[in-house]
Amino acid sequence: MPEDDIGLEARLDEQESFEPPAAFVEQANVSEEIHEAFEQNWPAEWERAANLLSWNSEWDQVLDDDNEPFYEWFVGGELNASHNCLDRHLDDRGDEVAIEWIGEDDDRRSYTYSELHEEVNAVAAALRELGVEADDVVTLYLPMIPELPVAMLACARLGAPHSVVFAGFSANALAERMDAADSGTLVTCDGYYRRGDPLDHLQKAREGLASVDGDVTTVVVDRLGEDAPSEVGAEHVFGDLRDRHAGATVEPVSRDAEDMLFLMYTSGTTGKPKGVKHTTGGYLSYVAWTSHAVLDIKPEDTYWCAADIGWITGHSYIVYGPLALGTTTVMYEGTPDYPHKGRLWELVEEYGVTQLYTAPTAIRSFMKWGAEYPAEYDRSSLRLLGTVGEPINPRAWKWYYKHIGDESCPVVDTWWQTETGGMMITTLPGVDRMKPGSAGPPLPGVSADVVDSRGHPVEAGQAGHLVVNRPWPGMLRTLYQNDERFLDEYWQTYSNPDRDEWVYFPEDGAKLDDDGYLTILGRVDDVINVSGHRIGTMEVESAIVGVEGVAEAAVVGGEHDITGEAVYAYVITADGQPETESFREAIVEAVETDIGPFARPSAVVFTPELPKTRSGKIMRRLLEDIANGDELGNTSTLRNPDVVHDIETAVGEE
Ligand code: WT7
Repeated sequence: MPEDDIGLEARLDEQESFEPPAAFVEQANVSEEIHEAFEQNWPAEWERAANLLSWNSEWDQVLDDDNEPFYEWFVGGELNASHNCLDRHLDDRGDEVAIEWIGEDDDRRSYTYSELHEEVNAVAAALRELGVEADDVVTLYLPMIPELPVAMLACARLGAPHSVVFAGFSANALAERMDAADSGTLVTCDGYYRRGDPLDHLQKAREGLASVDGDVTTVVVDRLGEDAPSEVGAEHVFGDLRDRHAGATVEPVSRDAEDMLFLMYTSGTTGKPKGVKHTTGGYLSYVAWTSHAVLDIKPEDTYWCAADIGWITGHSYIVYGPLALGTTTVMYEGTPDYPHKGRLWELVEEYGVTQLYTAPTAIRSFMKWGAEYPAEYDRSSLRLLGTVGEPINPRAWKWYYKHIGDESCPVVDTWWQTETGGMMITTLPGVDRMKPGSAGPPLPGVSADVVDSRGHPVEAGQAGHLVVNRPWPGMLRTLYQNDERFLDEYWQTYSNPDRDEWVYFPEDGAKLDDDGYLTILGRVDDVINVSGHRIGTMEVESAIVGVEGVAEAAVVGGEHDITGEAVYAYVITADGQPETESFREAIVEAVETDIGPFARPSAVVFTPELPKTRSGKIMRRLLEDIANGDELGNTSTLRNPDVVHDIETAVGEE
């Protein structure tokens, strides 16, 4: 099949590869035999992952695939996630630090495992007093403050699934997620600092609550004290509740392996966000295992994942994975260039950070700022570097390897998604050769392939759609209360139920290299990836067409040197609506109000028409080409070919 059969072009082959550094190999948690072990003994080998945890009762069956694709893992097993992240470490590691928190105003807090256990118990007791019971969904709308993981673990202790809503989301987005999850409890805060300025978070939460159906019990963390722009009113105060329950013990509720641990909403092609459901046994085993095998976490490490807990990366690799393994996890509230551009490296030196896991967009910023910043600090404690969230260009990979890792740390480029729960495609550090730009082979036990539009495997070197053709313990179980959409979105495209073939489609493009390595080419659905944040174009479009004076809008992703992609909005104004700067601003504001500032368009282009096929379909690919200043593909199928030139001119003027 021609390479562009499904609209993808393979990227230039990157031949260069690197051996795992010898010193790392000697101490790595896993070795070569692991690939073979999983091949020989699948799915039973997945017990390796489950065995990293403490179970109240052992599973009877590793994988139940009777009702595909509704797989179940570690069936019959019982456990509690909070027990696994806290209680079981108390004897050996009670006095070791669980969380090192660095606040934006250089506020510092350390919680030992004993202290974190105490906090979590007190908060669990408080939530229980407020009426939270097993299976109630608790919404956590909090920034990067220690109360967030404390509340997550308190929920887990009670068997109440949490639904964390990233603090950068708007009031509307909060309300939409609370309603979708039927959540009657909210934990939020009065505000937080960004670059030294206090932000009014409570105001946003209240605005959201105003449109939530049903009664909501609200708890507010007092983060800003006197700096708080809004005062806590009728809400419960987190600190008071905790103090009142100080010293309480709450017995962890024993949960079935398949019971929901949490929900996380993520964007897809259609308007409404998807409520991804993760379970207690499979998810926790999976993130503990990948933290062990890929991040090489050992209890004595000081490990830093510089993501936000409001997204899946933080759930899996700031909170659950590292704490399940009893290590020290660093939680950083601020931005990497505040108060100065050497901030991360200063903290690496100060805390003796052993692993750093961050996003390509951050690495490209570090590159831009210059190697002199990291060079100023002692980074010799670093043993491993990781990246996640978007494709990393080979240049950024090599810069990271050289200027941060001093060519002595393996770099793991980990492909995965909210839906997969944890890492899926990556080299194993200390085992596999690394090729900049290529994520690597699927993890042991994971089976992935690249297929053409009919689902047939492509030949090496070709581009196609990435598929996963075996279940794995960390997989989403369904979309919350929407099995049908779960089947439609992920399974329908490439599965063949008649032949009992179930194939998961992550909606990414990929290229299969000769050596079995996979190079990820990015989303093939209508999702834009800005700084590793997943933004649904339909969600942005629906925010824009809600603005009075907008007749029609199309949103696409254009390339961006730092953020990977940027949001481009093409807008047709209604008759009589002047195309002014202030109207542009109103459009941007609408996106901020509906979704959040992270989704704001970087360009709003007014155009008299959108390029459409004769059947009336908007040609997004053409709009992307225009955004990127690329040569345009075939425009002969357009109903209105002349419009292209007009739009190009409009972009030029932008
Ligand atoms: C999408 C998932 C995984 C946690 C953070 C994002 C892209 C993720 C990589 C990578 C190339 C990547 C994919 C994926 N992506 N990691 N290493 N190389 N692309 O989670 O918000 O669910 O987004 O991020 O396109 O589908 P998410």
